[in-house]
Amino acid sequence: MKKNLAIFASGSGSNAENIITYFSGNKNVNFPFILCNKEDAYVKVRAERLGIPFRYFTKEEWKDGTVMGWLREANIDYIILAGFLLKVPNEMIEAYPNKIVNIHPALLPKYGGKGMYGMHVHEAVVAAGEKESGITIHYVNENLDAGQIIFQAKVKVTPTDTPDDVAHNVHALEYEYFPQVIAQVIGEK
Ligand code: GRF
Repeated sequence: MKKNLAIFASGSGSNAENIITYFSGNKNVNFPFILCNKEDAYVKVRAERLGIPFRYFTKEEWKDGTVMGWLREANIDYIILAGFLLKVPNEMIEAYPNKIVNIHPALLPKYGGKGMYGMHVHEAVVAAGEKESGITIHYVNENLDAGQIIFQAKVKVTPTDTPDDVAHNVHALEYEYFPQVIAQVIGEK
């Protein structure tokens, strides 16, 4: 049974590319487009290289239901947030119960919530002297980074690790696990 997945990204899109590549041999899984709130985000370059339509949307289109219309037109079954920085409108959460999956580059519930994205997360982890960090893949609900946790993976943080070291080690977990967890969520594994 075919599944249509919408990927949302706001920046580089390395996770988006990794996910699309992972499923490239699976004819049941389709990515009609990559959706982005930044007109010139690097994920646009990745989409073009992958031959996946790139669709930019404004804050207004995000809030006024335009993007929701795109999801309906494309018969989207699941929504994947891969480095996406906007809060999901409640209308979308209600339309896609336990169908919106996000990845966070830390071990939630710690280091989540407002302002905790990208390098800010890894800087906070190092500043706190944490002995470990990792990834959290979770369903999205109306509270930022607080939906039901689906999967977590950990990596050690040594006293000499810089935030960049932590970011590198966490990205490696993202690339290894995010596509597999998505496959389980959508019933393709
Ligand atoms: C990743 O660290 C992800 O965990 C977080 O934002 C970053 C996105 O990186 N949500 P990329 O855009 O996929 O390269």
